[in-house]
Amino acid sequence: MKKRYLVTAALPYANGPLHIGHLAGAYLPADIYVRYLRLMGKDVVFVCGSDEHGAAITVKARKEGITPQEIVDKYHVMLRDTFVDIGIHFDLYHRTSSPLHHKTSQDFFLKLLENGQFDEKESDQYYDPVAEQFLADRYIIGTCPNCANPDAYGDQCERCGTTLSPTELITPRSTLSGATPELRPTKHWYLKLDEHEAWLRTWINTGMVDGKLQHQPGSWKNHVVGQCNSWLDSGLQPRAMTRDLDWGVDVPQHIPGSAGKKLYVWLDAPIGYISATKQWAADHGKDWAPYWQSDDTGLVHFIGKDNIVFHCLIFPAILKAHGGFILPVNVPANQFLNLEGRKLSTSKNWAVWVHEYCADFKGQEDALRYNMIKNMPEQRDAEFTWKGFQETTNTELVNNLANFVHRVLVLTHKYYDGLVPEVDTNLAIRSGWNIEQVGYFDEELLLLHHKVEEMGKEIMQFNFREALRILMEISSAGNALLQFNEPWKTVKDSPEAVRVVLNLGLQFVAALSVACQPFMPFTSEKMRKMINLQSVSGSGELLFILNDLAEGNPILPANHAINTAEHLFTRIPDEVIQAQVARLEATDRTNQAESAAESVSAEEPAVAASVSYPELKEFIQYDDFANMDIRTGTIVAAEAVEKSKKLLKLQVDLGFETRTILSGIALHFRPESVVGQQVVVLANLAPRVMMGTTSAGMILMAEDSEGQLSFVAPPQGWPNGFGVK
Ligand code: 2FM
Ligand code: ZN
Repeated sequence: MKKRYLVTAALPYANGPLHIGHLAGAYLPADIYVRYLRLMGKDVVFVCGSDEHGAAITVKARKEGITPQEIVDKYHVMLRDTFVDIGIHFDLYHRTSSPLHHKTSQDFFLKLLENGQFDEKESDQYYDPVAEQFLADRYIIGTCPNCANPDAYGDQCERCGTTLSPTELITPRSTLSGATPELRPTKHWYLKLDEHEAWLRTWINTGMVDGKLQHQPGSWKNHVVGQCNSWLDSGLQPRAMTRDLDWGVDVPQHIPGSAGKKLYVWLDAPIGYISATKQWAADHGKDWAPYWQSDDTGLVHFIGKDNIVFHCLIFPAILKAHGGFILPVNVPANQFLNLEGRKLSTSKNWAVWVHEYCADFKGQEDALRYNMIKNMPEQRDAEFTWKGFQETTNTELVNNLANFVHRVLVLTHKYYDGLVPEVDTNLAIRSGWNIEQVGYFDEELLLLHHKVEEMGKEIMQFNFREALRILMEISSAGNALLQFNEPWKTVKDSPEAVRVVLNLGLQFVAALSVACQPFMPFTSEKMRKMINLQSVSGSGELLFILNDLAEGNPILPANHAINTAEHLFTRIPDEVIQAQVARLEATDRTNQAESAAESVSAEEPAVAASVSYPELKEFIQYDDFANMDIRTGTIVAAEAVEKSKKLLKLQVDLGFETRTILSGIALHFRPESVVGQQVVVLANLAPRVMMGTTSAGMILMAEDSEGQLSFVAPPQGWPNGFGVK
């Protein structure tokens, strides 16, 4: 473990509210990690803030007919308050419109300039002759060269996820005026990213940089390393760090040629982590520098997978180009969360908005946190369903956790007037305590110690789902203790044994009240009140408990008075879930009506295309089919194959092993867009050597009448390595 930690969570654009995808992607994992570090007595600073620049903001302002400033003011407050309501606790939620941030970004730019890191180059960029301005990538739409989506943006196709540059779009048009943009020359400062490629490759893959081991190889997630390698293998190109815009951080005005130029939003946004740390330090009379410049600091960036290239390649290159800054020890990016079988979409309102959840489920904030953690898209995309949410709440939180805590407290009041019963194990044994039935007191405490320790190890490796599972095992073990010993039946005949059972039950509750805090802070607070202990403030409480338990010392002393029992969670009835599902269905109907209206009003009348289907092949016997071993898998890395236009070299996780498979999809998909894709693989196809590489298997693809390809995939979150029949 490092001496101190600086943890960041991606700065959300201040152009809309927060949805569950954001929460599961970056904010919840970061919050859990930080809370855990604090429980272990670590010095941690956790920063975030609103990303208030870039086309994301100006596009929204145009849509709402208000100024960019009004947009960011509105959503900054909304985002900040939503984080508080759902229990995401930053040390500072900053904003990139702050003067300190502008100054910090400009100083960074000047230092990069001074260090000779830029090439000042003139290039042709799209200009809207009607609106009379250069166009940000987001203001240009056209047909995606990858998947033929007619409405791909100049920076990305939202249908196939490919990163694009505007000149790659087929038939581009300006969203400002509808005009066809023209290429016009303009001058910008380009970061020489190509010169950083070699050390970035070594650092990402081996952890070594400047002769020092910065992270253990294998400690980064496969899909993160895979995506980085795909970018590196395609070759890093110099990237413009300035833009022709009227909204953003000014290129320092004394620089010749700076008029009308702003810093590229992906230069200023990550520097936002640094300016936020500076502001936090100034507010608390601390020094910001060790958090960013000292080797004994662990810098961890929590992000969603669409931000990987910026945090793992571009920002590290910027930090190194500046000099004096540490690099992240990990960037544990999560994959995406889908909602009821579909991609979350802000523009289509296909989302569960966190502020709406907090209003509808007041006092049940942790139920959402719990469900999100249980289904966190850690290694692959995952899925939120309202039915699943109801089930985790009712069966795991109400029936398991809340029920256990309630029973222990109620019985303690009933038998011991709300005082932790004194335990004399010798006396208990003499009076007929059957160890087989209760377990040794010390051993139960050691078991508790073991579980809490295991949970912590998983958190430190960013395996939050597994950590939560272990936490719930503590609650299940507590329930089993009650169920097995049935103190309500044995209290008359074996009072000494019941004292042991309930004392242990209370120790389990006390341990849970601390251990659950990273995942469910509101629940921890309620439990602490019930057992009459101070709230968990995050100052080494788990460390103290672990020390106590390791020595066989109980957490709650005998005769400690507890408060009355309350229910931690309430059951969610069917009607509540039905209302939420109905809301989504209504959204769906509105979307369908809108797109139908759009196609009716389109200039060209829709004509049913005549489709010719491929001819059916001859019959095969069942055995021919049964001989095929078809498995589920996930692509964890992808790269182009030298001298081949058609092939991509894929690494496919089949659960029991990772395979190299060459797939003829390069004309349809870019390497970086397929990493994380779930697939179905013909796994016993005899290996074949192609272009000098052995390909072991085949990825199954669907093909339409125009030869467009689509992956055949199991449902989101389906495990790798299992059969398809
Ligand atoms: O993708 C996004 O939502 C960006 N606003 C994330 C920025 S993260 C950081 F670099 F600031
Ligand atoms: Zn596309």
